[in-house]
Amino acid sequence: MRLLDLLRIDAPIIQAPMAGLATPAMAAAVSNAGALGSLGLGATDADGARKMIAAFRALSSRSLHVNVFCHRPARSDAALERAWVERLRLAFERTGSTPPPALTEIYKSFVDDDAMLAALLETKPTVVSFHFGAPPPDRIAALRAAGIVLLGTATSVPEGRKLVEAGVDAVIAQGYEAGGHRGVFDPDGPDDQLGTMALTRLLARSVGVPVIAAGGIMDGAGIAAALRLGASAAQLGTAFVGCPESQADAGYRIALLSDAAHHTVMTRAISGRPARCLANSFTALGAGVADGDVPAYPIAYDAGKALHAAAKAVGDFGFGAQWAGQGAPLARSLPAAELVAALRAEIGVT
Ligand SMILES: Cc1cc2nc3c(=O)[nH]c(=O)nc-3n(C[C@H](O)[C@H](O)[C@H](O)COP(=O)(O)O)c2cc1C
Repeated sequence: MRLLDLLRIDAPIIQAPMAGLATPAMAAAVSNAGALGSLGLGATDADGARKMIAAFRALSSRSLHVNVFCHRPARSDAALERAWVERLRLAFERTGSTPPPALTEIYKSFVDDDAMLAALLETKPTVVSFHFGAPPPDRIAALRAAGIVLLGTATSVPEGRKLVEAGVDAVIAQGYEAGGHRGVFDPDGPDDQLGTMALTRLLARSVGVPVIAAGGIMDGAGIAAALRLGASAAQLGTAFVGCPESQADAGYRIALLSDAAHHTVMTRAISGRPARCLANSFTALGAGVADGDVPAYPIAYDAGKALHAAAKAVGDFGFGAQWAGQGAPLARSLPAAELVAALRAEIGVT
């Protein structure tokens, strides 16, 4: 079946599921405009997911895509975490605060979150996607049996093949340009850092299921290029960060629309996993830090969020998780429905 028919959308455009940033209002506006609106559930629990999905449904009866994180649950290493907190101490002290005494695993992985699975089976979003890997076969089977379309993020051909073997209906080809967390299954394994152009083409030629291109795509020209490479749709994240419906704070919005957007950095210092962020005080702090010195995701994120909150409280936005892809300077701050209409016009699907 054609991907657009499977997803029940009119245009080959997916607003990326962005945990902590995409809102039900954004996803509903996107879906009502004929593209696929999405919610990131990686930073919430089953109750939060139920509320977000209900809020979407109050605004739209069209397709909904939700995303869960499927990382290996974090292994705590108390000595490493203490050393990390000490490394951040000066930055905390500059804000007039002190670092948290201990760090915790602030979000559960979907691989061991039975309550989240139950919430998804009960609410039945049209589409569920997996980031950081695939869940165990019984979870995939349960979601499929509920009639839910499944997608998974791949950053390489072997990851794409694993997702297809696991049973996804389509693969998201996430290039190195992409904003936010890199979907790589094993953050400590080898990484060829393939760009969106090469990865989309390689996956389109090899996986045998539809491919969705993601990373650095900001406008109709980028979407058209992805389709020419063999993708069936494009997933755009950074393009939607500046929408009024997003949860981006003032500092993030100002940075995105300034010259700062020309500089993005892949860093694991903020969350414990590689993610592309606007260059800021946190990415500068992370420069030169060995990967092995950063606690596991999402334990490091506990410290990262605390530092951002402490800095923000004294008016410093430089420690935010200001995720953005390499196309950031092309961001527009239109309402989500207007952005989808503009993208549709740019690719000639009106
Ligand atoms: C602010 C932000 C948050 C993101 N959060 C998620 C997420 O929760 N789940 C996910 O699968 N991808 C997430 N991503 C990655 C997107 O799915 C997508 O791969 C990326 O946005 C594509 O690159 P672009 O930002 O250049 O468009 C996020 C991206 C951004 C910019």
